[in-house]
Amino acid sequence: MPTLSPDQFRSRFPIFERRIYVNSCSQGALSTDVEGAVREWTESWHEGGSPWELWVEKVEALRTAFAASIGAERDEIAVMPSASAGINAIASALDFNGARSNVVMGEFEFPTLAQIWLAQQRRGAIVRWARAIGERLEVGAYERLVDEHTLVVPATHVCFRNGHRTDIAALTDLCHARGAYVLLDDYQRTGSGPMDVHALGVDFMVTGCLKYLLAAAGVAFLYVRHDLIERLEPTITGWFGRVNPFAFRIDQVDWPDTARRFESGTPPVPSAYAALGALALLERIGYEAVGRQVERLVARYRTAAEAGGFVVRTPAEPERRGPLVVVQSLDGPALVSRLGARGIVASCRGNGLRVSFHAYNNEADVDGVVAALEAESALLERASAPAVSAPARAYGDVGQAAADVAAPNRS
Ligand SMILES: Cc1ncc(COP(=O)(O)O)c(C=O)c1O
Repeated sequence: MPTLSPDQFRSRFPIFERRIYVNSCSQGALSTDVEGAVREWTESWHEGGSPWELWVEKVEALRTAFAASIGAERDEIAVMPSASAGINAIASALDFNGARSNVVMGEFEFPTLAQIWLAQQRRGAIVRWARAIGERLEVGAYERLVDEHTLVVPATHVCFRNGHRTDIAALTDLCHARGAYVLLDDYQRTGSGPMDVHALGVDFMVTGCLKYLLAAAGVAFLYVRHDLIERLEPTITGWFGRVNPFAFRIDQVDWPDTARRFESGTPPVPSAYAALGALALLERIGYEAVGRQVERLVARYRTAAEAGGFVVRTPAEPERRGPLVVVQSLDGPALVSRLGARGIVASCRGNGLRVSFHAYNNEADVDGVVAALEAESALLERASAPAVSAPARAYGDVGQAAADVAAPNRS
């Protein structure tokens, strides 16, 4: 039962005493709850020396808490050190040499997802690209590509570069009608609103804790739909992927009938403590309330940025965007640093200024960012400058991703 109002939630993040923090798309802000959970981990270490039984229990508690937060069963969740590790575990379990060899990806993927599937080409995968038009990637772009040769469609929910949200339910319907799996990368959305992974219907999902799940690097999740688990045996594996890791067998590889089979080495205990602290805090405000606050702030910011004459790259329709809004600047790194000098923490990808919201943000944050954009408008593209206006920009080919050079801060 949610007990915290958005104001009470915000008060648990000390950074708001000093800054306007709108960078959850890179890293969620640190709460006193997560700080306390990390302290609990160090204290358990001081106290017990090597309390591995307790630490493994904590990882199991995290599995249960995360599963509940997305409407999954706990047996459908593997606790991973990164989203990449989750994608790799699935890729390694697939066979590209049968009737289905094709992997169909969109142009808005995060690099790690694209790279892992490109690396499968050596194992027989054939990669095909669904093209974006301007800042939009429609399910129609997959129509001609997904067929009886398609094995898997890895797709990012919210694009880290422009905030575009793909219609995953429609994409999943299309892929399933044609016998292909869908692997969802939900990293840029999980924690920013409610999620029912079964209703969404995807086969696999990866996400991690350091963005809208408000915890630290080192822990991520892989969801595998129940009926698929026992059909898949990853070749990227290890002792924590066994029925009983503590049997210490070197003469056989056995497979648990749960998603634990996709895990490999020693679990990320400190990050698991942090993530448990963060999930407990998110429960206290509730994902419905988070989603409402995020949607309200995204709408307010997007509307104000557009009214200010700036080039907004994120779609206008609420169902086609997530918690991130991208406005086109003339020099992204310079703008981020000027905003930093004004006490605003944001980030950029290339010249796209990324401003993202969580339930800890409020209207004053939005208005503060908009005022700062107006003050720094010399560094922003204007919608009236047609030659370079962003909606006319076609990704054209996947090389655009390379052209949008990543700034040193995290994605
Ligand atoms: C959409 C998306 N997927 C994946 C990742 C990275 O995943 P990991 O570093 O946990 O493999 C990020 C950002 O860090 C991301 O934004």
